[in-house]
Amino acid sequence: MKNRGWVKFTKSEEETRKIGRAIGKGLLPGDIICLVGELGSGKTTITQGIAQGLGVRGSVSSATFKLINEYKGRIPVYHFDLFRLDKLSEVEELGYREYFYNQGVTIIEWAEKMRPLWPEKRMEIELKIISENNREIKITNLIGREINVNGNSGNRDIN
Ligand SMILES: Nc1ncnc2c1ncn2[C@@H]1O[C@H](COP(=O)(O)OP(=O)(O)OP(=O)(O)O)[C@@H](O)[C@H]1O
Ligand SMILES: [Mg+2]
Repeated sequence: MKNRGWVKFTKSEEETRKIGRAIGKGLLPGDIICLVGELGSGKTTITQGIAQGLGVRGSVSSATFKLINEYKGRIPVYHFDLFRLDKLSEVEELGYREYFYNQGVTIIEWAEKMRPLWPEKRMEIELKIISENNREIKITNLIGREINVNGNSGNRDIN
């Protein structure tokens, strides 16, 4: 399959959101997005874009006290934020499978906390802080079909 990896560079929150919107438009029920990146790298920001691309109208928050938020879009969106989780067993207790293999799209912040449970078919997005307003965003599409990730940002295909 072509269309597997990209590294993008954004200079603002809005540019990061725009990449999210492009991705969101191409997602289908059952797709899973694993977000990895330090505090403040833009995981919630790109999630907001993805949700918009999926037709979610309300706001998507970074309410870390709630582990899972659901939004209504063209298809349901399940937004996991695993920041407060310490053990894999806690993820298992969340009943994550009910979400993964359901009729919605699952987006997971701090996805590395459940790496052993990542499904084979997934999109990985790694965000890095380069400077105050600059982010490096590495996208790996392992979903098994092409997904357009074009925002207006600096862009380099990696294969
Ligand atoms: N190019 C950029 N892309 C995304 N966010 C940016 C960018 N430049 C600056 N920012 C700022 O970085 C912050 C990103 O916050 P966000 O909540 O999206 O990060 P996060 O990775 O979800 O953090 P947390 O780990 O706390 O959940 C925001 O304050 C945003 O305005
Ligand atoms: Mg966040």
